[in-house]
Amino acid sequence: MPLPNVEYMQWAKTGAPWTKPGLLNCSTSGIYELRKTYRDLFGEMPSDLSLTGSGDAYGHPELKAAIAFRYDVLPANVYNANGASMANFVAIAGLINRGDSVLIEHPVYDPIPAAANALGARIVHFERHESAHWQIDIDNLAQLARSEDARLIILTNPYNPGATWTSDNDLIRLADIVGDDTIILVDEVYREWGENEAGQTVATKRPNLVATSSLTKVWGLSRLRAGWVIADERLIHDISRAFDAIGAVGPSPIDSISARLIADDKLMAKLRDESIAEITAGRKLVEQWLAHDDRFDARIHPGSGFTILRCVNLDLFRAPDGSASRDNQPADQSAHAHDIHVVDNQPSDQSAHAHDIHVVDDQPSDRPRPLADTGTFGDTKPGLRDNPGHPSLHNWLLNEHNILATPGRFFDLPTTHVRFCWTQGVEVVEQAIRKLST
Ligand SMILES: Cc1ncc(COP(=O)(O)O)c(C=O)c1O
Repeated sequence: MPLPNVEYMQWAKTGAPWTKPGLLNCSTSGIYELRKTYRDLFGEMPSDLSLTGSGDAYGHPELKAAIAFRYDVLPANVYNANGASMANFVAIAGLINRGDSVLIEHPVYDPIPAAANALGARIVHFERHESAHWQIDIDNLAQLARSEDARLIILTNPYNPGATWTSDNDLIRLADIVGDDTIILVDEVYREWGENEAGQTVATKRPNLVATSSLTKVWGLSRLRAGWVIADERLIHDISRAFDAIGAVGPSPIDSISARLIADDKLMAKLRDESIAEITAGRKLVEQWLAHDDRFDARIHPGSGFTILRCVNLDLFRAPDGSASRDNQPADQSAHAHDIHVVDNQPSDQSAHAHDIHVVDDQPSDRPRPLADTGTFGDTKPGLRDNPGHPSLHNWLLNEHNILATPGRFFDLPTTHVRFCWTQGVEVVEQAIRKLST
């Protein structure tokens, strides 16, 4: 098929051992399903909920109005889409032409470069370095955008997986330096976990800043699939038209329910408060635990529900023959080696997609790969593959402790790294820490 495999999605949907008895899930990055029914939120289901719609060919009017009101923009600045995933996809589709240069952060949430790749982008990865706490160097990025003649820059804020924040002021500065012909697409799906971040978006601050988000993470309502793009009106026009190649209209009855929820500030605040209380409690426990456990290292950023957990004691998972695995490099060694990674989109020759610039690394197993072109699931990165015979932090947590964290390899991180979430409720985090402490 012309679309790339998205290894992480395949794992999240079918490959993760969700059904393992007694498994503690510290992998899912959204708040645990709040197990809300329609009745929990609104009372009785209206018997006149319309199963048809009108006037919603380019987005559900009430839903767009509710989102616009929340973020203090006009409905013409909003496109509503199926989750942040589809919002990202249509935003990229509407903003680039085939062959345009698109700068994407690395390590990265795999579906983002997959979408850009599918849409014919020439992907140039820019590194976020662990040693720099995953922060973006705005001046370097602006320079890269200029030298690559970038049409689009894509990043997540807060950053998935590193959880670091980039300030709006830095993004505004970036937007001003690169100029209006370069658009900056910011995935803000985790943003409202931050303090004073309710109803905030960077998209209102400059015409070349575009943001995406959804009800998935902070509100735990993934299955409503309410996602959105906020942008300058002209860009929203292009983004809406891009959807014409993908689908016809949205699911009106569901969109009506999302509209009702988003328009209800009090209810939105209540759900967000519940979610924040849960992750804050979980985060405190993780902080306390890590302060006394020198096997692991993690930088805990407030306003996020996850962190990269890194194993610093490599004795934990030696290879079965007793030798230390070559893949268990101290965390930053591989990341340092690469600054730019280009993926040319040439569908006719899939094998020749990638070439690296600035590669000074002689360890092929750690090299960033063209993330969006991963070949057969689980089979593409033999050196880093997580399997019972091959040591990794993910396997060690799973096999020794029945704790599921997201393997680092899905973000192109070394096997010493996992993304560890405290979004499944304090009890789960508590139990996981107890297991790891004994
Ligand atoms: C950065 C980022 N964007 C988007 C998504 C998907 O969000 P949604 O469920 O709204 O499509 C995720 C989910 O993990 C994510 O981490």
